[in-house]
Amino acid sequence: MARLAAGVVLVTAHDPEEGARGEDVGMTATAFMSVSLDPPLVLISLRDGSRMDELLERQELWAVSVLTEGQRQTAGRFAMKGRLSDRLLFQELPHTHGTSTGAPLVDGALAAVECRTEQRIAAGDHTLLVGRVLATRLGASEGGPLLYHSGRYRSLG
Ligand SMILES: Cc1cc2nc3c(=O)[nH]c(=O)nc-3n(C[C@H](O)[C@H](O)[C@H](O)COP(=O)(O)O)c2cc1C
Repeated sequence: MARLAAGVVLVTAHDPEEGARGEDVGMTATAFMSVSLDPPLVLISLRDGSRMDELLERQELWAVSVLTEGQRQTAGRFAMKGRLSDRLLFQELPHTHGTSTGAPLVDGALAAVECRTEQRIAAGDHTLLVGRVLATRLGASEGGPLLYHSGRYRSLG
């Protein structure tokens, strides 16, 4: 699978139960695909026991920001296991909150999709989440996509 080039996204959600004002949570992912146009459905795959998996068991709203080649550092930070606090990471990352989900959407991303979980499918040590698309946002068109291939972040060209 390392030989399959993939676009890199940030899966995000707001955890209302963490702290007094809740907490924004993010996770770098490549397992993101479109599933259906009518109705609009997309899919993500979450490792069992990850922070995002634990959160999306409890609440059904989440979002995906499609990262640009200029957002490698963001991808790296949100992929670190055992990182101290997503709250601190989001403090340094310009973003807004999606009106349909309350999930953080990364400024400057190529696109963003807000979703509600429609189906959960246990699959080995991951859980597949099929999400109904509630809203989409197209970001800046300049800058190419961030890719992952052979264990490294890459750009087109
Ligand atoms: C390029 C890349 C792609 C990833 N794709 C996924 C993915 O699709 N699903 C997933 O569960 N984890 C994926 N991960 C791993 C998570 O980003 C990482 O395990 C998670 O952020 C660590 O958080 P945790 O401490 O809650 O496990 C990916 C990591 C990298 C670097």
